[in-house]
Amino acid sequence: MWPLQHLCCMGAAKATTALAISPMCIGMVIAGLDTLEVQAMLLSDLVAKSRSYRRFFQDHDVPLETLRQLVDLARLTPSAGNVQPLKYLLSTNADQNAVIFSHLSWAAQAKGWRGPEEGERPSAYVIILGDKRLKPTFGYGHIDQGIAAQTILLGAAELGFGGVIVGSVRKDELAPKLDLGPEFEILLVLALGKPKEEVVIEPLGDGGSTAYWHDTDQRHHVPKRTLEDLIVRAS
Ligand SMILES: Cc1cc2nc3c(=O)[nH]c(=O)nc-3n(C[C@H](O)[C@H](O)[C@H](O)COP(=O)(O)O)c2cc1C
Repeated sequence: MWPLQHLCCMGAAKATTALAISPMCIGMVIAGLDTLEVQAMLLSDLVAKSRSYRRFFQDHDVPLETLRQLVDLARLTPSAGNVQPLKYLLSTNADQNAVIFSHLSWAAQAKGWRGPEEGERPSAYVIILGDKRLKPTFGYGHIDQGIAAQTILLGAAELGFGGVIVGSVRKDELAPKLDLGPEFEILLVLALGKPKEEVVIEPLGDGGSTAYWHDTDQRHHVPKRTLEDLIVRAS
């Protein structure tokens, strides 16, 4: 189970309204554990903080138990037909991490940058697998894994970690190196760690470009459309 202190006491922002407190925290408070300081990060803060991070303090470990807690969050997310066909491979082992890293492509739009250097690489990975015994096909656009991935990243942000969804993976080469049987398909790789980079959200670039870019100070700039751009009709 997600420990109470993580749900209630982690995060930079202090929640001051009941709405900002997770139902599990409220349950525990109602149950009489109201001596604990109740803090939680607002969902809006978590979403804003949960950027795609690609440079990390590599020597800052992400405990295996933390990865288990993050998967436990994903366990509760929606699943089409409630089939729950996703399984997870967790990695905090440096040798295995190096193998995983060598099968990933990083930030295709950041020209001239081929991914994080040694020392700035992820210290953990969660690999989302499709269990073909439970569901025979998993398209790139399959929704379960997207929901699971974002939930894990939000949970990581709450705990002071961060990461990136990596879909560009040499999956057929990686699977045998991880001793994955034919019943498993690699769907997404979540690279995780203690983020080292600053990410700047900004308006679209020239000509409406959504291409992200790095500046000379290694800040990562991510253009986002405005709210008005997104809403087709509101009545
Ligand atoms: C399905 C999916 C696949 C992605 N694959 C990669 C990838 O292979 N390599 C990478 O560096 N980033 C990848 N990303 C991260 C996106 O580039 C990132 O979400 C986008 O630049 C916006 O930045 P933000 O997440 O900080 O808003 C992927 C994101 C999604 C949702």
